[in-house]
Amino acid sequence: MHYPYQIKNLAEYHAAYQRSIEDPAAFWASVAEHFTWRKKWDTTLEWNFNEPDVKWFQGGKLNITENCLDRHLEKLGNQPAIIWEPNAPDEQPRVITYKKLHEKVCQFTQVLKNNGVKKGDRVCLYMGMIPELAIAVLACARMGAIHSVVFGGFSAQSISDRLQDAGAEFIVTCDGAFRGGKDIPLKNIIDDALIGNQTIKKVIVCTRTRTPVSMIKGRDVWWEDEMKQVEEQGITYVEAEEMDAEDPLFILYTSGSTGKPKGVVHTCGGYMVYANYTFVNVFQYQPGQIHFCTADIGWITGHTYITYGPLSAGATTLIFEGIPTYPNAGRFWDIIDKHRVNIFYTAPTAIRSLMAFGNAPLEGKDLSTLEVLGTVGEPINEEAWHWYHEQVGKKRCPIVDTWWQTETGGCLISNLAGVTPEKPSWATLPMPGVQLLLVDENGNEKLAEGDETISGNLCIKAPWPSILRTTYGDHERCRINYFATYPGLYFTGDGALRDKDGFYRITGRVDDVLNVSGHRIGTAEVENAINMHAGVVESAVVGFPHPVKGQAIYAFIIYQGSHQQNTHGSDDLIKSDILQTVTRVIGAIAKPDKIQLVSGLPKTRSGKIMRRILRKIAEGETDNLGDTTTLLDPGVVEEIMNGKL
Ligand code: WT7
Repeated sequence: MHYPYQIKNLAEYHAAYQRSIEDPAAFWASVAEHFTWRKKWDTTLEWNFNEPDVKWFQGGKLNITENCLDRHLEKLGNQPAIIWEPNAPDEQPRVITYKKLHEKVCQFTQVLKNNGVKKGDRVCLYMGMIPELAIAVLACARMGAIHSVVFGGFSAQSISDRLQDAGAEFIVTCDGAFRGGKDIPLKNIIDDALIGNQTIKKVIVCTRTRTPVSMIKGRDVWWEDEMKQVEEQGITYVEAEEMDAEDPLFILYTSGSTGKPKGVVHTCGGYMVYANYTFVNVFQYQPGQIHFCTADIGWITGHTYITYGPLSAGATTLIFEGIPTYPNAGRFWDIIDKHRVNIFYTAPTAIRSLMAFGNAPLEGKDLSTLEVLGTVGEPINEEAWHWYHEQVGKKRCPIVDTWWQTETGGCLISNLAGVTPEKPSWATLPMPGVQLLLVDENGNEKLAEGDETISGNLCIKAPWPSILRTTYGDHERCRINYFATYPGLYFTGDGALRDKDGFYRITGRVDDVLNVSGHRIGTAEVENAINMHAGVVESAVVGFPHPVKGQAIYAFIIYQGSHQQNTHGSDDLIKSDILQTVTRVIGAIAKPDKIQLVSGLPKTRSGKIMRRILRKIAEGETDNLGDTTTLLDPGVVEEIMNGKL
C-alpha cells in the first residue's frame, strides 16, 4: 500500500500542521479521500464543544473492515496480516494472511448473526490475546455491532458493571487465557459475572486452555462448533454492513476521577481515519514491515495500534499472548529476533522492569531488524529512555514518545520517527490537526515570555477526527468530565510543560487519576472498593512514585474500632482481606501496594479529606506538609506520619 499522506521530512510536517490549522476540514478531507467509502460524506466537520457535539464526515457511508481487509485482498491477500506468538515459546506461532483473516472475520460475522446479534447491539469481548480476539473485534465491526472489549485482568464484578452499563446482550470469551505461568479461567469469571443476570442471551466460548468450564444449555455455545457450521455451509464471504460515519464503532471503559468507569464511545469514520493517519505517520510505517505493539487489545492502544491502525494500512501486526518476563526477561528480544520485527512499541513500565534484569537477557539476540521504537502510557524517565535507545535500539532507532488517551482514540502528541526531532522524556510536537494550549486553574491561556519553558493544564481547542463523541448512556457525564472545567476546551486531565521550541512534556495527571504500570485507575474507584470491605469505616487513596510501575497505590484506611484490637486477626490478615476485596471488586491491577491502618484521616472542618497532605506523606515528604492549621484534628497527621510504611 502507498500512503500519499505520509509526512517525509520536517518541512512537510510544518506544512501539514499549518494546513491542518488553517482549514481542518479541508485537511482531513484530503486524508479521508484515500479510504474506501461506500458513499462520500456531505459535511466534513461540524462541532460545538459546549454540548459537546462533534461530527466528522457526516453523510459518509463505510465499513471499517472493508478498509482493514477487503481493500487489501487484491494486492496483499497473501501477506501476513497477523503474526501470533503464543505464550509458551515452544508452541507454534500462527501466521494469518489478509485473505485468511478476511475469510475468518466473514465467517465469525455469520456466527454472530446466527446467534441473534443485530446491528447496534453491544457485544462484550472478554478474551486472551489470541487472533480470535482480533477476529471477534472485526466481525462486530463488519456487522455493525458495537464491541466493548474488557481487559482479561478485570474481575467478575467489573464485567457485570460494564455489561449493565452498556446494555450488552452478547459475550464472546475463552475457556481460559495463558499469561506467563498462569491460566486465567476467563469463562468461570464470566459465569460469576452472570449470576442473576437476565439480559445476556448468548455466550460464545473460544477454546484455548481447555480448562473445565460450565456450559449452560441454550446460552453458552462453543466458538469452534459455530464456526464449523458456517464453514460446512461453504460461507467464506459475508457482506459488510453499511455504516454511517458517525455510527458508534466501539465502547471502551476507562477510569475517571469520580464514580465507576465510563464507556468512551468512538465512531466509525473519524476513528478509522485518525488511527490510520497516526499509525502511518508516527511510526513511519513502510510496506512489508512487521509492527509489534505489546499492549493488550483490552486497552485503547491495542484497539488502535494492534488492530485498526495497522490493518487499515495493510501492515503486518504481531500479537503476543504472553508477558515480557515469561519464560524469562529476554522474551521480547526473542520475539523481535524470531519474527524479524521492525517496529517495537511498548510501555515505559515494561522497559523499566526489563532494565532491572541488566543487559544479559539481550545478549545473543539479533535486534538488527528494528528500525523504530515507541513508548506509550506514561512519562518515560531519561534513564529508561537511554537504556531503550542504547541497549534495544543500538543507537540506530528513533524512539517515538506517544502521548494520548482512551478518549483521544489515537496519538495526539509525538515525534514522527526519524522525521521530527526527538527529545528524551518529551512527547514533543502535536500531530497535524491538534491545537494544544496550556491554561492556569482559571482557564486562562498561559503564554511564554521569551525563551522560558512554561507549565499548565493541557487543553485542546478544536476536535480531531477520533475525539470521543460521548460516554455511553450519559452524555452529561462526558460534558462535565472533559468540556466543563474550561468552557470551550477539551481538558485532558494532564499537566504539561512547553519549551521554547513548542515541545511538550507531559508531567502527569492533575486530577485524582492514577497511572499504575501504564494502567489508568481512579482513586475514588479504589476507595469505593476498599469501603465495601466489612469493617472499613473510611479510606483515602493516593499515588506515590514507584521505580518500575511509575506510580503505586497507597491506601490510608480507618478500620472498625481500634485497629490494634479487633476480632478478625492481625493487621496483616486484615490487610490481606482488604486486598482480596479490591481484587474481587475491580481486579488485581487495582490492589494497593501499601495499606496503612489509621485511626483518623486529615480533614478540613467541612469534612473534606486533605489528599494533598496524604500524598506528601505517601511520597515521603514530611518536612513541608503545608498549612495544617485548618484541619479538624491536626493530631491525626502526626499519628499517620509515625505509622508511615
Ligand atoms: C493517560 C491516558 C494512550 C494509551 C495508553 C494509556 C498518560 C499516556 C503518555 C506519554 C506521558 C502519558 C496520560 C494520559 N499517558 N501516554 N507518552 N507520556 N503520559 O491510555 O489509559 O487512557 O491513559 O496516560 O496521563 O492522560 P489511558
